[in-house]
Amino acid sequence: MKEIEIIKPDDWHVHFRDDDILKAVIPETTRHFARSIVMPNLTPPILNGKQAIKYKERIKNAIPKAHNFEPLMTIYLTENTDKFELCKSYQEELVFAAKLYPAGATTNSDSGVKDIKKIMPVLETMSEVGMPLLIHGEVTHKEVDIFDREKVFIDQNLDFICKELPELKITLEHITTKEATEYVYEGNENLVASITPHHLALNRNSIFVGGIKPHNYCLPILKREKHRKALIKVATNGSKKFFLGTDTAPHFASDKENCCGCAGIFNASYCISILTQIFEDAKSLKNLESFISINGASHYQLPSNSTKIKIIKKDYPIKFKKFILVGSEKIMIFNPGFKTFWEVKN
Ligand code: NCD
Ligand code: ZN
Repeated sequence: MKEIEIIKPDDWHVHFRDDDILKAVIPETTRHFARSIVMPNLTPPILNGKQAIKYKERIKNAIPKAHNFEPLMTIYLTENTDKFELCKSYQEELVFAAKLYPAGATTNSDSGVKDIKKIMPVLETMSEVGMPLLIHGEVTHKEVDIFDREKVFIDQNLDFICKELPELKITLEHITTKEATEYVYEGNENLVASITPHHLALNRNSIFVGGIKPHNYCLPILKREKHRKALIKVATNGSKKFFLGTDTAPHFASDKENCCGCAGIFNASYCISILTQIFEDAKSLKNLESFISINGASHYQLPSNSTKIKIIKKDYPIKFKKFILVGSEKIMIFNPGFKTFWEVKN
């Protein structure tokens, strides 16, 4: 097959940041995607509908005129989130979903939730009005190994939430483990998961082998090969419960190549090419459209996009740009290190 045509994709998890970074990174997403759920972890975070709407305006002003794109806004949950205000912001369509970050789990998550029980009344209200909950599913206890944080979160927190509130629409975001694939697969029908291109492309060796690789450092951290294989299986087998959320997370190269390098991989630019290659290698090109263009919309009860994109197979591997510039600072573009022959047609 030399060319495929699919419904235009959506990205159900992006970090656009703000100001100059926002302006620099946004075309990389809006070129290929029709809609995105936008993460609220700015500094300070987006805590209410009013802030979300202002941020949405800044995003809209940064979208290139030729691109047709809709940002879907989120609110950052804290132990002080007002359930009535949250619910009102959702019903007035100022925001689309709420994001749960366990305190300290990742970049800019200091104001996140320490004790899940404290936000159960908020989650109950969300469940009543049908507002989606997006979860960064990792515990942050010092004694838990960083590679086990997702599994422990599922056992200690997610299972509790799912049992208490089976009607709540939950996305366990950027899953990384076999345990997460199994829990979501077997879990209640309102529980789904998103998967990133980098967790499908790489295992944890890519952070360490041949020297430390700060540009492959993200959270949740990359895992063993058996986990990557489990992710490939559920992403490519056509299951409706799994879909793309790129977690494209730009940072300046100088902040990643640093004695305290920050977590996050900027993957928007070649995400579709990389995924198409992965699906072809898994002999599952027929399920690419479900994963990147259908399953997410259907979970969020949105129509699939009405336009299509073409992805063309070249005779030679495509050449990746290495970085984008923001002033004099570089943001490195994710390159999985294998040959990628597929290119989105403009
Ligand atoms: C994200 C970021 O940089 O904002 N980093 C990451 O490694 N994924 C935060 C997040 O989504 O966890
Ligand atoms: Zn993220």
